[in-house]
Amino acid sequence: TRGGKGKYPFYMEKEIMEQPDALRATMQSRVVNGKIDLSADGVPDEILKDCERVCVVACGTAMHAGLVAKALVQSKLGMHMNVEYASEFMYSDPVIDEKTLVLAISQSGETIDTLEALKYARKKGAKSVAVINVKGSSIARESDYVMYTVAGPEIAVASTKAYTTQLMALFLLVGRMAKVRGIFDDATEKAYLDSLTKAPDKMQEVLDQKHDIHKIAREMLDAKDAFMIGRGLDYSILLEGALKLKEISYIHTEAYASGELKHGTIALITENTPVVATVTQSKLKEKELSNIREVQSRGASVVVFVKEDFDLADAEYADVFELPAMEDEFMVFPASAALQLLAYYVSMDKGLDVDKPRNLAKVVTVE
Ligand code: G6P
Repeated sequence: TRGGKGKYPFYMEKEIMEQPDALRATMQSRVVNGKIDLSADGVPDEILKDCERVCVVACGTAMHAGLVAKALVQSKLGMHMNVEYASEFMYSDPVIDEKTLVLAISQSGETIDTLEALKYARKKGAKSVAVINVKGSSIARESDYVMYTVAGPEIAVASTKAYTTQLMALFLLVGRMAKVRGIFDDATEKAYLDSLTKAPDKMQEVLDQKHDIHKIAREMLDAKDAFMIGRGLDYSILLEGALKLKEISYIHTEAYASGELKHGTIALITENTPVVATVTQSKLKEKELSNIREVQSRGASVVVFVKEDFDLADAEYADVFELPAMEDEFMVFPASAALQLLAYYVSMDKGLDVDKPRNLAKVVTVE
């Protein structure tokens, strides 16, 4: 149903539902004989092997994809990584040299901030890989190498399938880096790819339960403010979840690293303040649950998106949605689908133009 909304009322819903296929398509040409192979993209192993720093330049949703990649690069590769808003990058005296690998992430490939940041980094000698959805776009042409996401055209202003296919491309890139740097052996690479292969199916499981998420969304229609809390990868996931909700529902939403609540935001939590929490990371689970109790004791109404095999004991929540379980670092796939649907239904039930939120443009070519 390319070129139309098909059976869906909005492009955003169609694009959310297309994600499992888009993820498979983005993965397909890059896995050859059970191994990650970026030769079709022309990305040489040397730049993945020899770089000493990785830096993302991107805007909006694409920048949030970079944050997830950062967690992966640090945990899998033990390498330092920066993720910068492209619009801030050039003015922050970034430390960039020939040993830096710059990743420019962009759906459109035309965002001027990202393009300028990439040009700046290349002038300083950095090598670059762009992760782009639109073939032949300006950023794709400027970059040394390009990995195209295979999301297909994304029409809704709020990005969904572009984001998750960016994640897929970045997971593949990091997997290849781990291999060429001698961190993954064949067995670890296989286990990593096995999990990644399951991401589309786990996402589908969430999409199949969209009506349950619609029910949760109905409770949020009258909210003026909402908070999204979590730590580590959950926090990165929620930054994107909060951006989705604010972009299309106009509910002021703040994602907060939940350990930081006590240093500020908790002052804003009062009776019935909606709080969305994701709990998907084993090492953070207990701390996250204790942060949830802190906001509950101030009266917050907490919806928890929890990895299904985590035990929530007998605590009471306004709502609980169980996310299909994957290894922790892959939980971003099912969790993102859930948060996208939440924002979508809030916007739709408020009677808003989901696909065309006020003041926002799909492609931003002004600085
Ligand atoms: C605009 C869009 C956002 C998008 C950002 C970056 O502001 O409204 O949804 O995340 O640009 O776009 P890009 O095409 O570079 O990914």
